[in-house]
Amino acid sequence: MLVNLNEVLRDTLTMDYAVPAFNIFGYEDAKAIIEAAEELNAPVILATNKVAITHMPISILGRMLTELAERTHVPVVVHLDHGSDYETVRQALQAGYSSVMYDGSQLEFEENIRTTKSIVQLANSFGIPVEAEIGSVGYSDSNICLKSFLTDPFEAKEFAERTGVDALAVAVGTLHRMEEQTANIQYELIEEIQSLVNLPLVMHGSTGIRDADLKKITKTNFGKVNIGTAIRMAFGKKLREEILAHPEAFDRLDLFQLPMQAVKREAMHKIKLLNTHKYQEIRGKTNK
Ligand code: G3H
Ligand code: ZN
Repeated sequence: MLVNLNEVLRDTLTMDYAVPAFNIFGYEDAKAIIEAAEELNAPVILATNKVAITHMPISILGRMLTELAERTHVPVVVHLDHGSDYETVRQALQAGYSSVMYDGSQLEFEENIRTTKSIVQLANSFGIPVEAEIGSVGYSDSNICLKSFLTDPFEAKEFAERTGVDALAVAVGTLHRMEEQTANIQYELIEEIQSLVNLPLVMHGSTGIRDADLKKITKTNFGKVNIGTAIRMAFGKKLREEILAHPEAFDRLDLFQLPMQAVKREAMHKIKLLNTHKYQEIRGKTNK
């Protein structure tokens, strides 16, 4: 079923689970991830970033992903990842997305607050929650020259209060697009942020997080954990193996079968680490 972000993050501040937001680029990975969520009876967030919405218009992605969400019994959030401007967010909302991120992390503090507030106002008129970023999670890819700096806890508090966002992305030691799990998570900084900000936090660049740290993060206020590169690597590596193993093959739907299974396996692994498969059980307890 299609649900909004607040619905799946509702108990993450008090309970030991987090919900993965997997970056998807089309039907194949979206389908594989929903199958993983169904098999574990877990909620999941399907996230489309700038690359995805450049490849396929938001209006088409919105229809396809919301229909996939409505066809399943597990809660699915359709999320705009790293929305760069007002118009992109407006298109996502109009296309039926049930969650949007606005990323003003490259702007000065006051400008980030001003633009984020206007997005919150827009999204609220659609009844849809907003994630925004304070501090900046950079990129391990040196060709991408974006600011990268850890979150200042006091800025996080002021940002959260003045913007009225529903979930807050903070920079606590990860980088986007890491291919190895070598991120150095700053637990003291997480503690400081949590003592000042009473919102579900969002972790970006989570491919670079060790399995043990992913488990540990479920005990913090991180409720949404963004995973992109791990899924792209699972699909891409298996596709390469398939092409090399069957040099005569040219039907892509045949070639996609094992890569889709690889995506499903990887998604199931992350879901288990984040305790998302315990979601129904945990929620059952809190609803009593
Ligand atoms: O917003 C998307 C994520 O932050 C994905 O990061 O590709 O490094 O896992 P990742
Ligand atoms: Zn990100």
